[in-house]
Amino acid sequence: MNIDFYERIWMWMAGVIVVLFMSFVGASTFGQGLHPPSHIETIDPTKVFQDPRFSRIGTPTELPDGTIEVQLAAIMFSFVPNEIRVPPGRRIRFRMTSGDVTHGFMIAGTNANSMIVPGYISQFTTTFESPGDYLLICHEFCGTGHHAMHGRVVVDPAAPVAAGAAPAHQGAH
Ligand code: CUA
Repeated sequence: MNIDFYERIWMWMAGVIVVLFMSFVGASTFGQGLHPPSHIETIDPTKVFQDPRFSRIGTPTELPDGTIEVQLAAIMFSFVPNEIRVPPGRRIRFRMTSGDVTHGFMIAGTNANSMIVPGYISQFTTTFESPGDYLLICHEFCGTGHHAMHGRVVVDPAAPVAAGAAPAHQGAH
């Protein structure tokens, strides 16, 4: 088969670009440990409220490294708790799971955004720089009450934080 010289150059370039992109994805996945925040650990969705990893729902707690951990469950059709109070300028680690179906977790106007999948624990860390009232919404369709599933995140310098607790899990995110 006769392939034009320039055609051959472009075919090689397309191949090189594919290999390059695949190696970037591979390097960030395996080298830097980048992954979606929604599949950190597994959990039995029927026993969320008995699980020791969620024994501090409603009580933001300071971890040994100064990060504040906020535990939260998503249940049709609300977040438990529905109102979260955290101080500004601190690392806030959200640990979340679902008691039934897939939900979403998005704090409007911030980079806090994750799926909450039953059977798994979602986790990510963020910092709120400015005090204020933020809208928390479920942005994955979860049933007839989906549109009403929302809550509030209040970033307030006076937000109470429980002192020191050893994390009931592993992972450095
Ligand atoms: Cu929960 Cu939509």
